[in-house]
Amino acid sequence: MKEQNIKQRIAGLTREIIRHNELYYRRTESEISNLEYDRLKEELASLEAQYPHLISPDSPIRIVGDDRLAGFQSYRHRQPMLSLENTYSRNELDEFDARLRRLINQDALDYVIEPKIDGVAVSLTFEKGVLRRAVTRGNGIEGDDITSNALTIKNLPRRLSGKNLHDIPDIIEIRGEIFLSLAEFERINAKRAELGESLYANPRNLAAGTVKLLDSKEAKRRKLDIVLHGMGFCEPATFTNQNDFHKALRAWNLPSVNKFWRAKGIDEAWECIQKLDTLRNNFAYATDGAVIKLNSLAGQDEAGSTSKAPRWAIAYKFAPEQAETRINSITVQVGRTGTLTPVAELEPVILAGTTVARATLHNADEIARKDIREGDWVVVEKAGEIIPAVIKVLPDKRLADSRPYVFPANCPACDAEAIRLPEEAAWRCPNLNCPPQVRRRIGHFASRYCMDIEGLGKAAVDQLVGQGLIRNVADLYGLQAADLLPLEKFAQKSADNLVRAIADSKNREFWRLLHGLGIQHVGVQAAKDLALNIKTLRALMEADDETLIAVDGVGETMAKSIRSFFEQKANHKTLSLLVDEGLNTISEPAHAKASATLAEKTFVLTGSLPNMNRDEARKLIERAGGKVTASVSNKTDYVLAGATPGSKFEKAQKLGVTIIDEAGLRSMLAN
Ligand code: IVH
Repeated sequence: MKEQNIKQRIAGLTREIIRHNELYYRRTESEISNLEYDRLKEELASLEAQYPHLISPDSPIRIVGDDRLAGFQSYRHRQPMLSLENTYSRNELDEFDARLRRLINQDALDYVIEPKIDGVAVSLTFEKGVLRRAVTRGNGIEGDDITSNALTIKNLPRRLSGKNLHDIPDIIEIRGEIFLSLAEFERINAKRAELGESLYANPRNLAAGTVKLLDSKEAKRRKLDIVLHGMGFCEPATFTNQNDFHKALRAWNLPSVNKFWRAKGIDEAWECIQKLDTLRNNFAYATDGAVIKLNSLAGQDEAGSTSKAPRWAIAYKFAPEQAETRINSITVQVGRTGTLTPVAELEPVILAGTTVARATLHNADEIARKDIREGDWVVVEKAGEIIPAVIKVLPDKRLADSRPYVFPANCPACDAEAIRLPEEAAWRCPNLNCPPQVRRRIGHFASRYCMDIEGLGKAAVDQLVGQGLIRNVADLYGLQAADLLPLEKFAQKSADNLVRAIADSKNREFWRLLHGLGIQHVGVQAAKDLALNIKTLRALMEADDETLIAVDGVGETMAKSIRSFFEQKANHKTLSLLVDEGLNTISEPAHAKASATLAEKTFVLTGSLPNMNRDEARKLIERAGGKVTASVSNKTDYVLAGATPGSKFEKAQKLGVTIIDEAGLRSMLAN
């Protein structure tokens, strides 16, 4: 390769890796698998080693990514949180071992082998045995304080307990990974699918998004889990080796790795790695490799670290399973905001235990870069992702009459001409009336974190749009029970209920409407911030960039997206219809205060109250932003109990739900 080309490749890889770092660490929406990412990094590292004079000053090779976000308190780790060197090769393990033996001048080294957990790194600080703080890795030096979300983790004790209590250090940082079980991941995604929301690609992304929620009540609904594996700062020095530290984790009743091994020398370590590979599918967390650590802490000290990773540990990663299959066709899906996503329809093939029939192709550039064509034989790979990726084409198996794939110029659903904004990777359909967009928009509007219209799920929306009964969210408010009766799964009662639920939604807080409009980049938190600061729909429609950006958490991209939403005539029309229907478009201070007390609180009523009937109680709760449901579950916040309560009372006691009486409710409302 000519120097000019090498320079270009280094610059390209640098840019690409920085972009993927941003996606992975900050936005938790990685586009490529860990293996693909590691391959890019490996290529860049090897080019940098050969051509050190071409290294770019912003090279991502020697730095740890940064997960810190606005809205979180930063906290400095007492001891930096380093990353690990990665390898996929047995040879490099031998090299690691040889280097380490040289460094500490010993023969057969004593190693500990542990699973490498594909989770979100966290550091827990225990002071005198009490959990004080949970912090993300951040940039390795300072991370985000996520204590309130970490405290929602059921199996994480607030206090060290068990045997060996005399061994508890004054201060200890314990490192681990927060993760979501596959079952929980699937449950949340299934729900999101029902609501027409975008799906998380893998449990890690979802866990990373969850630890960074500003609303820890929502975090609690997603059942995070944790596993601990490492020690940071510890005073006084309590341990002499990693093995004893692991034993202490167990003795203190902290969740630790299912299994770890001790090995003398790298050959024995290799055998343990093989054993781990056969067991890892049974673990609750995704394990993408093994971590080999020098057992002795004194030896670790002697070996030391680079600015990025310790010299006394290495991660051996298991290569994800791959399979070869054929792309029967490439289809294009239309998202809620019109994004056109290409999908490979595959000849079904078994991969990592499941049948795979589709793979995402990300976007048009990705297809062009890999020159993926219909009819091609390709290598597909599943690396902890639910949707497998197409890694490469097998050119030898390409048919003679094959042609490069041409991304459609028109939307496959409505035929509108596709557009592409200069700063975006995706093509999109600009037609607001495009049927799949309409269905997804209305589904989003009705969903839980928007207008929360009970009974208006995906199936109902599909029918309503399909039958031409509604074309936009404003049409919902004109629906009558008689319109719904002919639809599948509707009877008089359910039709009446839905009409009532739609009418009730008119009084929802303004941020819900704002979120429900589905403005690109405006999520729940941004909608709440905008509603709180800009207060009315009218003011928001008139706000300029400066006013928008002055709101904490709103950046240029979001401001631009908000303005372009309100500039569109069709949106204007829908909004004025919503206003005519009497939807709440104001966040009044009084309203905001009330919503701060009971917003998102769920109540169940049982027994008879001294001074009001149940209907009155329900109205009071709802007016303050709360919700009344029929049965007690672990989602219930309060049970309001009167005289002679029913079985709901016992259930609440059993689940540990707070039970209040009428006076209790009144004092909550007075607050
Ligand atoms: S030890 C200074 N052990 O993988 C030693 N890390 O890719 C570094 N990880 O930053 C950590 N499982 O967040 C260690 N058994 C394990 C691990 C593990 C997962 C994470 C950790 C680390 C990252 C590096």
